[in-house]
Order: sequence, then C-alpha cells, then structure tokens
Amino acid sequence: MPFALRHALKLQWLSVWWVYILGLLPAVWGFYLGASDQLGADPVKTFERFLGLWAIRFLLLTLLITPLRDVFGLNYLRYRRATGLLCFYYALMHLSVYMILDQALDMSLIIDDLLKRPFIMLGMATFVILSVLALTSNNASIKRLGKKWVWLHRFVYIAVICGGLHYVLSTKILSMEQYFYVGLLVAMLAYRVYRPLMMKKRKLARAAAKT
Ligand code: HEM
Repeated sequence: MPFALRHALKLQWLSVWWVYILGLLPAVWGFYLGASDQLGADPVKTFERFLGLWAIRFLLLTLLITPLRDVFGLNYLRYRRATGLLCFYYALMHLSVYMILDQALDMSLIIDDLLKRPFIMLGMATFVILSVLALTSNNASIKRLGKKWVWLHRFVYIAVICGGLHYVLSTKILSMEQYFYVGLLVAMLAYRVYRPLMMKKRKLARAAAKT
C-alpha cells in the first residue's frame, strides 16, 4: 500500500470522542425518523431492527481491527474500546425498544415470546456477554483482572456466534443483507482460527531472514 494512502488511512487526527459522536449519529437519525413518523407502517419493528443491525455493524467493526492491523498494517487499536461500547449501546437500545415499545414491559408477554421464538434467547445470551464485556472494558478492570481479562474478553466470539444466530433466526427467509453480514461474521471467526498459524509462519520467516 502506498505510504501516503497508508498515512491518510491511519486516522491519527481522529479523536476517540469523534468515534462515539459519529457512532451515535445513526441512533439520533433513527429517533428523528421515528419521532417524525417516517419509519413506515410498523415503526416500532423498523426501529428495533435498525438498532439491532447497528449493533451487529459495530460488533463487526470491533472484530475487523485485528485483521486490518495484521494484513494491512493499519493500527486502529485505540478505537476498539469505542466500537465495542457502541455495539453494546446499540444492543441496549435494541433491547429497550423491544421491552418498552414492542412488549410494553409486560413480563408475561415477554416470557411467552421467549418460548415461542427461541432466537430471542440467543439475543439475550448475546446481550449478557456484551454487558459483561462493556462493564469490564475500563482501565481499572484491565489492571485488576490481569491475564483473566484477556480470557474473559475472548467471550466476544461466543457473542458473535449467538448474535449471528439470533440475526439469522429472526427471519424465515434470509435476505442478501443477512448473507452479507453473517458472511463477514463467519470470516472474522475463521480469521481467528487461522491467525496463530499465520503468526507462526511470519515468525519463522523473520527468523530465517535474520540468519
Ligand atoms: C435481550 C436481547 C435481545 C432481544 C430481546 C432481541 C429481540 C429482537 C427481536 C424481537 C428481533 C426481531 C424483530 C422482528 O423482526 O420481529 C430482533 C432482531 C434482530 N436483533 Fe435482536 N434482540 C436482542 C439482542 C440482540 C443483540 C445483542 C444483537 C446484536 C449484537 C441483536 C441484533 C439483532 C438483529 C441484527 C436483528 C435483525 C434485524 C433485521 O432484521 O434487519 N439483537 N431482535
């Protein structure tokens, strides 16, 4: 990759706060569309799906940071906490719309829905994992948990599997959009399986070049 392009893509000028501001803009836009009655015939469902999809997008962005660094040398590690937290915020908004607007906080309706549509259970499992990861994403937790933190944050892969299944099972017929996002999620998981092998090969090549 040419040096000038790599320099521009490094985004050194972009503060982490901008990632939060830009990342929350879709939510503001969605609220605006909802408040101005522009979300179609079933605004609650449309808004619920919109927020769920943004949670998946931020989950994907968070997972893309490692391959971008390994393959293209682009280091966006300083944005990873922000994209991970944005995924959690969107999942929280998605859940809130489901509980408050869709189910009117009626616990018997929610339990009934859970039993009728098992994909909701997968969404809940994903949300629990994302909550634990979000709560332990601060510097104090990283310090306190030490090596356990790395182990704990590998649960993101379980969240990817449960979240991906939740997404796939939420509809009867898969759309192109679903194939696209689920394909990317699978690619991100496959990359994690392949990565140790790639790193080992690189290390051996470096050692061979030195001798
Ligand atoms: C307690 C947690 C959750 C509940 C109760 C829940 C509930 C729902 C419901 C009811 C739908 C389907 C709406 C419909 O078409 O009838 C849905 C769709 C969806 N959810 Fe969740 N969800 C949860 C967690 C999550 C999480 C954590 C994510 C992402 C990380 C997520 C991503 C999605 C996506 C992408 C869709 C489909 C959007 C589309 O059709 O374009 N959900 N969820």
